[in-house]
Amino acid sequence: MRDLRLQRPHHLIHHPSFLSSSLLHVPGILRYRGYPIERLAEAATFPEVAHLVIYGRLPTGGELTAWEDALSRHSALPAPVLAAVDALPHDAHPMGTVLTALCALSTCHPEQNPALAGEGVYADTAVQDKQIARLVGKMPAIAALAYHRASGRRAAPPNQRLGYAENFLYMLDSGPGANPAYRPHPALARALDIMFTLHAEHEMNCSTAAARHLASSGVDVYTAVAGAVGALYGPLHGGANEAVLRMLARIGSVQAIPAFLAGVKAKKEKLFGFGHRVYKNFDPRAAIIRKVAEEVFAIQGSDPLIAVAVALADAAREDAYFKDRSLYPNVDFYSGLVYRSLGFPPAFFTVLFAVPRVVGYLAHWREQLVDPDTRIVRPQQVYEGDWLRPEVEALGERAPPPALPAAASKKPALAPVFGEVPPSNAYRRRVAGTNWA
Ligand code: CMC
Repeated sequence: MRDLRLQRPHHLIHHPSFLSSSLLHVPGILRYRGYPIERLAEAATFPEVAHLVIYGRLPTGGELTAWEDALSRHSALPAPVLAAVDALPHDAHPMGTVLTALCALSTCHPEQNPALAGEGVYADTAVQDKQIARLVGKMPAIAALAYHRASGRRAAPPNQRLGYAENFLYMLDSGPGANPAYRPHPALARALDIMFTLHAEHEMNCSTAAARHLASSGVDVYTAVAGAVGALYGPLHGGANEAVLRMLARIGSVQAIPAFLAGVKAKKEKLFGFGHRVYKNFDPRAAIIRKVAEEVFAIQGSDPLIAVAVALADAAREDAYFKDRSLYPNVDFYSGLVYRSLGFPPAFFTVLFAVPRVVGYLAHWREQLVDPDTRIVRPQQVYEGDWLRPEVEALGERAPPPALPAAASKKPALAPVFGEVPPSNAYRRRVAGTNWA
């Protein structure tokens, strides 16, 4: 991995801690294209960061105007996307709604689909740029649609005069009549903008790897992004922020922390928001989020779960179980508290992660398009199954197979039979009906 990285200095983000052999002692560093995340959070807006991550440099004044205009112009959703989302159950999880919208969007733009327009369609940078503008531009509208699917109200159409995070809050909150004079609180819009910056990119995590995996097959970029968002949904990845809030609510009080941690150490529970495959030290994003949280709490008021979160993090960081395994708070430990204070329900938190992370997926997609080493991803399987089964000759008889010697694998054996699936209540009613009288 070290050699790979040194040969490819254009890689999107750089983790010296990951290159180092003394991993545990080097504090985590996160840079987008050579800019420390702390500086970007302080001095750049999310659209600037998105341009940096995707195109490799911060935009100049004129470039920024053109980029923001393109995102605004492509922020509205086509009617089939609205109709597809309308067809979902009223209580659909917002991430399911986002996935539906992305898949529907894929069908709205056949002219860019390699399956229809030919394998080389993305060789044209104008075609690439248009899909980038559409996806980054439409993500806030898709998120607003998912939010109001659950609220039962309608998202306002995008307001092209507003900034990215500001427009998102406008679509959520400007009311049923979409009052064009409505403006979100500037400090809350800025807090959300910083949260978007912190989530824009994080190298080869599970969902970005999924984006690259799908794109390697030549599938259209909307489907590749939808697949990545699907991977992000899981509670070990982007879904962890929702899981943290549910966990804190379940713990409920500072007094209940020791019993909860005992359950974690006995492997009965997971401490969501702790641990990371790459950071074996404090996640640099968690430190920035703590500051953002203080600013948001100062406006929105304090939250009783903060005391539980702070005491839980302190207790875990003092505990040998977590110290020995280098488990520290990750980005998701505090982000849920910020989102909750901003007034979002836990089920929506992962959507707030997906909106900016689409930028990272697109940067990887673009990089992959011009990489001469790109080949279809095809992990090699290590076959551990039977070589030739003894009952092959008697296949037609379907006799129960003889007990096989225990496999060498240490994995728990999968049940060899279909388990019992009880009939539904509706089925029972139907059958009861036919037998009556
Ligand atoms: N709570 C309790 N024990 C843990 C945790 C945790 N959160 N994370 C790791 N461990 C233990 C694990 O049980 C194992 O113990 P042992 O050595 O006794 O078997 C040891 O630490 C090593 O863990 P691992 O599973 O090998 O670590 P990993 O690199 O495979 O997993 C992780 C990384 C992020 C999936 C994991 O730490 C985890 O499940 N964390 C909680 C979920 C979470 O917060 N995810 C968000 C990650 S950051 C943002 C993102 O990627 O989206």
